[in-house]
Amino acid sequence: MTTIAGKTVLLTGASGGIGVFIARALAKERATVVSVSRSKEKLDKISAEVEVAGGRGISIPFDISKVEELSVLVQQINQIAGPIDIVINNAAIEKYRPFQGYSLQDIQSILTTNLVAAMELTRLLLPSMIARNDGHIVNIASGSGKKGAPYNSIYSATKAGLIVWTDAIRQELANTNVEVSVVCPGYTEAGMFLKFGLPAPSLARVSQPTDVAIAVIRAIEQNQGEVMLDGFLTRLLFSIIQLSPKVGDDIYRWIGLTKLNQSCAANQIRAENSSETYGLKNL
Ligand SMILES: NC(=O)c1ccc[n+]([C@@H]2O[C@H](COP(=O)([O-])OP(=O)(O)OC[C@H]3O[C@@H](n4cnc5c(N)ncnc54)[C@H](OP(=O)(O)O)[C@@H]3O)[C@@H](O)[C@H]2O)c1
Repeated sequence: MTTIAGKTVLLTGASGGIGVFIARALAKERATVVSVSRSKEKLDKISAEVEVAGGRGISIPFDISKVEELSVLVQQINQIAGPIDIVINNAAIEKYRPFQGYSLQDIQSILTTNLVAAMELTRLLLPSMIARNDGHIVNIASGSGKKGAPYNSIYSATKAGLIVWTDAIRQELANTNVEVSVVCPGYTEAGMFLKFGLPAPSLARVSQPTDVAIAVIRAIEQNQGEVMLDGFLTRLLFSIIQLSPKVGDDIYRWIGLTKLNQSCAANQIRAENSSETYGLKNL
């Protein structure tokens, strides 16, 4: 069992949604939380909270999509906080669209923020973890990485990428004390999910962000390889879907997920004043 107390944790996407709850949970464990995201004001607020809750809070505003500059971020962190013991790749963006409605820039920015930045940060931090023979990498993926979410295909691809990449490097690092976990939340009452103001599909369980934070702490403490937030039934559902993706398509249509995501796409496009272009008028 790994103890988090006294460890230095790099948490991306600490300024909003689920990240705030993970930062609070780490603070309770008395960790040093190095919070990274673009908004300095929000980061300072969460770092102050971390200090009050018993941890040490350090904010470093940084746009992780500037992947070529992540080495500068890592140098800065090393100078301010010392070596990182645990990295939690949590920052992500999503954009709902029919696939043909994405621009190349959309595709690049979602892939870079959600997947390439996590890989590059980890690549930069890993040698020090291996040299110290101690460390933990946690990637926050999603149920959308287990079965593609229609109208959120690029995001789904990044989350599937995170799951498989985690799986591969966990095997590479099996003979070290550097541990690797992927945590896959489903619908969570925070952040991205709340942005659309739409309900979750019928039958889908909605978790609390504290559930995700607890799952992250447990994944680290108990060295869990892969954590699915929605429990056994969801894991069973995804296993069936693995056997027959088309049955999965029917299930997603039946529970209303497909329609819901189509509505999210239409709402986003409407907000950008271009919904007619994508033929989504028949919702
Ligand atoms: N909420 C859900 O229902 C749900 C379900 C499944 C999985 N997840 C996963 O859980 C994680 C957290 O999601 P959330 O709902 O909390 O999302 P959120 O509220 O949108 O928060 C995303 C965080 O990422 C940061 N971020 C985005 N782009 C960034 C960039 N270029 N550089 C640095 N930081 C950046 C944001 O901060 P700034 O804007 O200040 O940069 C923010 O702190 C994500 O990996 C998401 O995929 C969420």
